[in-house]
Amino acid sequence: MMNLDLFDSGMPEGRESLGRDALVLRGFGLPFVDAVLAAVDYIEACSPFRHMQTRRGYTMSVALTNCGRLGWISDRAGYRYSQTDPLNNKAWPEMPADLLRLATQAADAAGFRGFEPDACLINSYLPGSKMALHQDRNEADLTQPIVSVSLGIPAIFLFGGHQRSDKPARIPLFHGDIVVWGGEDRMRFHGIMPLKAAEHPRVGARRINLTFRRAG
Ligand code: SIN
Ligand code: FE2
Repeated sequence: MMNLDLFDSGMPEGRESLGRDALVLRGFGLPFVDAVLAAVDYIEACSPFRHMQTRRGYTMSVALTNCGRLGWISDRAGYRYSQTDPLNNKAWPEMPADLLRLATQAADAAGFRGFEPDACLINSYLPGSKMALHQDRNEADLTQPIVSVSLGIPAIFLFGGHQRSDKPARIPLFHGDIVVWGGEDRMRFHGIMPLKAAEHPRVGARRINLTFRRAG
């Protein structure tokens, strides 16, 4: 499923395999940073970052918002996708063309042609924020990959197996890195270790993660 022809990618030097159908594209997002940050400004003006509740009543340490036709939400009823932002009951902001282009180019570079994301979850991490190991399993179309863009301060990405108990690999992610996982790796458990305090010259003391998926 994954295309391993290095000449097919614009950045053959920056590929690290995490599995048969999973890899890190180091720095692939760097040419897009200004456009992505402008898109995030636009999105958060319509649908601000907020801390959601889990089904068990915990408040997530990560603040999130969404763009695209479907947005990922969590509340006391559990996790799901919603066509509207629960803060204003309006549609989420449209997915800006630059974000769609970045996501499809990264998917192509990873060998997943024809990626058509309809959901982009945007997570904002401060030092200390984390994301527990989980599977992305609320999407209707599991044949399409996940494309995950990191900006700002570094984080340690945990990439586990198909069982929660499988010991995860620890992969440092930096500003501009993109992780793509699909195919046989689509359902692997993943998460983020608590962020260390740091300052990024362009993004400040935070990490922004954009996760593109075909949800509907
Ligand atoms: C997620 O799995 O939703 C986020 C992963 C990340 O922040 O890199
Ligand atoms: Fe996830």
